[in-house]
Amino acid sequence: MGIHIIYGSHYGTTERYAKELSRRIGGAAVDYRDMRKISSQDTVVYFGGLYAGGLVGLKKNLPELKTAAKLIVVTVGLADPNQQENVQHIRTSVTKQLGEELSAKTTFVHLRGGIDYERLNILHRTMMRMLYSQLRKKPSEQLGSEERELIATYGKKVDFTDLSSVEKIEALLQ
Ligand SMILES: Cc1cc2nc3c(=O)[nH]c(=O)nc-3n(C[C@H](O)[C@H](O)[C@H](O)COP(=O)(O)O)c2cc1C
Repeated sequence: MGIHIIYGSHYGTTERYAKELSRRIGGAAVDYRDMRKISSQDTVVYFGGLYAGGLVGLKKNLPELKTAAKLIVVTVGLADPNQQENVQHIRTSVTKQLGEELSAKTTFVHLRGGIDYERLNILHRTMMRMLYSQLRKKPSEQLGSEERELIATYGKKVDFTDLSSVEKIEALLQ
């Protein structure tokens, strides 16, 4: 019986959270591409960066994650998880990835990351540019909190990472 800490991250914010948990509870934080075999008695804490509602690497590892006795999925995104509307949005999209059955027995934790537009690769930059230009066409009273946030931070460098929020996950593992 063990705890596996796995992460899927493109620019490092999610990785930092996973490494912080590993520093606190011991054991390695492993990139999703190097995930080892999970036994039916194991607990998996899967940290994933949010990209257009999906978590990095989650789909690839679904068959293995289904084996775990306990699954904690930690989402890391730009949207503020203190806003209930954002959490609902994230849950709906991640449930599509996980499937209803696995989702129902998963514990979710939502953390906040950051973005540095200068570091984005061409694909991510283009995706954000398209999203931004779509949002700019929407009347402002129809914009949700996540969408307003995206407009406010577009093109900038912001970091909402708060490593102390990993406490929430530690508490779930006790
Ligand atoms: C193309 C793209 C799509 C994104 N989609 C979302 C999203 O749907 N929801 C969200 O909260 N954040 C979204 N973000 C913000 C990332 O989740 C955020 O930058 C996160 O900290 C990235 O994690 P990483 O540094 O581990 O890759 C997106 C960022 C990019 C570049």
